[in-house]
Amino acid sequence: MTRRHMLITGAGAGIGAAIAARASAAGYTVGVMDADEKRAEEVASTLKHAMPLAGDVRDPADMAAAVRRMGSVDVLVNNAGILRTGPLIDHSADDFRLVMDVNLNGAFFAAQAAARHMRDHGGGVIINISSINGLHPSPNCGAYVAAKAGLIGLTQQMSIEWGKFGIRVNAIAPGFIDGGMSSPYYANAKVREKRSGAVPLGRLGTVDDVADTALFLASEQASYISGVTLIVDGGVINSVLLQLPRE
Ligand SMILES: NC(=O)c1ccc[n+]([C@@H]2O[C@H](COP(=O)([O-])OP(=O)(O)OC[C@H]3O[C@@H](n4cnc5c(N)ncnc54)[C@H](O)[C@@H]3O)[C@@H](O)[C@H]2O)c1
Repeated sequence: MTRRHMLITGAGAGIGAAIAARASAAGYTVGVMDADEKRAEEVASTLKHAMPLAGDVRDPADMAAAVRRMGSVDVLVNNAGILRTGPLIDHSADDFRLVMDVNLNGAFFAAQAAARHMRDHGGGVIINISSINGLHPSPNCGAYVAAKAGLIGLTQQMSIEWGKFGIRVNAIAPGFIDGGMSSPYYANAKVREKRSGAVPLGRLGTVDDVADTALFLASEQASYISGVTLIVDGGVINSVLLQLPRE
């Protein structure tokens, strides 16, 4: 059987590295792409059938080159993302543009490069890592919320345009994940306790919770799923009324 190929952006750390590890274990050839070349090399060196790819998702030429270097791309995971915090009233134009550029524009450039290849090779799967912040606003995350909501809209749009090419496009909305960009945040015991206490399942999520979901969406078991956003948050998005119980 020929090996399937999965290209993962931002795979040099956190959730992306966890998806790369799961994909490698599941028998994929894995493209570990990251703007930080050293990180991409480090992660790829620990995995079977993995190749490091240096590149910036903000540059469409980098994405086209990554697809070419992979030779074949059956699955793209748009995982690269950044967070810049602060109230919108004070957000600098540079910070706002940067967050939109990486989290939304970059995801589009990567998806377009992969979809052109998939269209000509019988289809494929695109998975966009959004966030529960793409569904709900939260304090000091304005640019991130806008970009992640945009990514959900883009997922829906791509699913209706590219279904005819045999391309499924879905998003994942992780909740409170104990890893990656949130690690410094959850190093604070008080924050950990408060946040995990707000989750109906009683714990923070792990990078592997997200990776397992990505592998499911990539698989044949998800072959009739397209255009959805799968929320991976232990139920927290529905928990607002837990804070206001009816006595
Ligand atoms: N960790 C969380 O709590 C959490 C929750 C919800 C959603 N997410 C989303 O999951 C994804 C992964 O987050 P993470 O927590 O693993 O972050 P992380 O900071 O640990 O890793 C992100 C990786 O992306 C790379 N990257 C950044 N800009 C890039 C660019 N322009 N081109 C290529 N690579 C670039 C970084 O070098 C880094 O290796 C992000 O899209 C994030 O928004 C994370």
